[in-house]
Amino acid sequence: MRLIQSKLPLHVGIIMDGNGRWATRRGLPRQLGHREGMKAVERTIDALLKFGIGVVTFFAFSTENWKRGKEEIDGIFSLVRDYLKGNRDYFSNKGVSVRSMGALSKFPKDLVTELEKAKGDTKDNKNLILNLALNYGGRDDIVYSVNKLIKSGKKEINEKDILDNLYTESLPEPDLIIRTSGEQRISNFMIYQAAYSELYFTKTFWPDFDEKCLKKALLNFQKRNRRYGGIK
Ligand code: FPP
Repeated sequence: MRLIQSKLPLHVGIIMDGNGRWATRRGLPRQLGHREGMKAVERTIDALLKFGIGVVTFFAFSTENWKRGKEEIDGIFSLVRDYLKGNRDYFSNKGVSVRSMGALSKFPKDLVTELEKAKGDTKDNKNLILNLALNYGGRDDIVYSVNKLIKSGKKEINEKDILDNLYTESLPEPDLIIRTSGEQRISNFMIYQAAYSELYFTKTFWPDFDEKCLKKALLNFQKRNRRYGGIK
């Protein structure tokens, strides 16, 4: 089966799950699972560019992930920082524009500096928007949006006002959300934006995810009949 360009999602959201289990099953520390997961992120970005997908959001760190041990949290932060630092040329050569969503105030300074640099340097790149959900939660996103609207002095708001003021701002809503590792839930990921997203679950643990897995998800998406509550 072939991918049909006009039927591809504009925006893919990815809930990367199973890093810990991937490692534990091999008798390895969880951090090694995250390190392998980072390689899967790189493979997936290559594949997204190859397939011509315009926007991807990775759920890299949730508002709930602060419950994990300090060592694991610091390990994830280092991976993100090193990834951003090590891929400056890649972003410019491949036309990747880095963005993020989530409040950054609780993150280590070196990570925030690297992220702000990546965002500034790549803001005009056009091939792929790489949106990193960091300290992100869908409920927190709605609160953030509504607070912005209150501060702007609005007395009455509509659905579009909330949508336009979420962290995703002008990004399209995710057409497809992929979750790995066999869990079938959305875990507070873009809950407002995901109202009509197609959901795709695979048993593959995130560190094993690759171009073939992505293609399978996209082929599956192509067959969906998106009705948005109407008749088709
Ligand atoms: C869940 O696996 C995965 C995470 C908490 C995210 C890990 C983050 C990265 C690999 C960095 C991503 C960086 C970029 C730039 C996108 P888990 O530990 O919950 O797995 P488990 O359910 O098997 O324990």
